[in-house]
Amino acid sequence: MDWGMKNRLSKIIKPSNSRCVMLAVDHGYFLGPTEKLENPRETIGPLLNYADSLMLTRGVLRTSVIPESNTPIVLRVSGGSSIIGEDLSKETIVTSIEEAIKLNASCLALSIFVGSKYEFQTLKNLSKLVNEGEKYGIPVLAVTAVGKEMARDSRYLALACRIAAELGAHVVKTYHCPDFNKVVEGCPVPVIIAGGKKLAEREALQLTFDALEDGASGVDMGRNIWQSDNPVAMLKAVRAIVHENSTVKEAYDQYVNTSTMTEEIRKKSRNKSVSI
Ligand code: 5RP
Repeated sequence: MDWGMKNRLSKIIKPSNSRCVMLAVDHGYFLGPTEKLENPRETIGPLLNYADSLMLTRGVLRTSVIPESNTPIVLRVSGGSSIIGEDLSKETIVTSIEEAIKLNASCLALSIFVGSKYEFQTLKNLSKLVNEGEKYGIPVLAVTAVGKEMARDSRYLALACRIAAELGAHVVKTYHCPDFNKVVEGCPVPVIIAGGKKLAEREALQLTFDALEDGASGVDMGRNIWQSDNPVAMLKAVRAIVHENSTVKEAYDQYVNTSTMTEEIRKKSRNKSVSI
């Protein structure tokens, strides 16, 4: 790996512990204004400084993130389908490498749909993106997207992750599942997990913990952070597990305490404005 590639990758996966906390806010690219992400600027603002990196599209980056931010950007460059369209797997590369460089992206993200109708097209997209990224020293995160009809078991996810790595992805994002260690063992590049649908906070922290125990390098989490009642407290709790080796209990207690403190501060500032 050349210097630029190593340097960018080190912004995504921390060299000190080989772990990462990526905040995913790219959902709108096929889901539209997802609950609690209707106004991306409002959602992202308070969380920005607590994420190791931010995963999003160029549209949301330009409109909703301050350019002075130091948080590294993982730019989603695949798209072209919607939740109500013909087939979610029918994606192409929608953002050019020149644009990614202009936006100072530290990593490029693209979905592959192994086993779907458009498997070939999405694997071709990944290969093309890796070729482009290699030219300019920009790593690629492959997202193993799962259609409704695909099982999220270790056999399927190991297949998808391994193919992504074989085609040159530098990091792979997938879902946690029983026997997840087999998925990680079969993939020669770091594997990180998506959070999936909103769970109770404790369950989401357990998911994070279990994934790391099974060999994941971290999370690329969205809904379980910003759909939480207290997104900042939740992101800090996830960080505690990933970067400080906290137990689920320690991280959950931290979440509850931070949430209570935030509520007290809110109450105090409300009372203050009433007494003024
Ligand atoms: C959508 C994505 C999302 O970024 C990914 O699913 C992570 O978000 P969540 O934790 O909400 O599942 O890649 O294709």
